[in-house]
Amino acid sequence: MVFDIYTLVEAIWIIIPAYAANGLTPVIGKLIKPHPIDGGRKFRGQPLFGSGKSWEGLAFGSIVGVIIALVEMWAYPYLPWELSPIELTIVSMGPLLGFLLGFGALVGDLVGSFIKRRLNLKRGRPAPVLDQDDFVLGALGFAALAVMVKWQWVVLLVIITPIFHFIANVIGYLLKVKKEPW
Ligand code: CTP
Ligand code: MG
Repeated sequence: MVFDIYTLVEAIWIIIPAYAANGLTPVIGKLIKPHPIDGGRKFRGQPLFGSGKSWEGLAFGSIVGVIIALVEMWAYPYLPWELSPIELTIVSMGPLLGFLLGFGALVGDLVGSFIKRRLNLKRGRPAPVLDQDDFVLGALGFAALAVMVKWQWVVLLVIITPIFHFIANVIGYLLKVKKEPW
């Protein structure tokens, strides 16, 4: 079977540093005044990427990726892998893979913003699916430079990430930390 629970565990294991990088990068905009990657440059009348994509965000996301990969590397021997009746393909985490996942996530996010600007969407306007999946594809694309990435992980993560995102937002809404449930 392609989309079983084992594939899901393998896929989530590899994407965790990218989820962390993508999820924590907005913090940078609240801490400092970041420097936009496009430096205000335009392309066909619209910003190249927009002011929401900064060098600091790119660097911060890469560091988060490395740190979270190190945490996974450390946790690996303590996790109950023996519960699985089949041999799982758990990629071996380390700082290089963490960097590729974090940096790749932010590059994917940058490409997503490039596409949004070409569609005339202003910074911060929603682009469903693109907003949630751009970083997943970037992270896995870069990770593939260092490890074997199963295509089943890619398909599964592209499908479940927007769903996870939606569920997290509904929970945030019910806990009253978010104004809208999306
Ligand atoms: N961010 C950053 N640098 C990056 C990516 C993200 O500084 N390379 C920060 C910015 O403060 C940004 C926030 O993370 O506003 C949220 O990122 P995202 O939702 O991807 O950007 P938006 O501001 O919504 O812009 P866009 O419409 O281009 O997605
Ligand atoms: Mg956004």
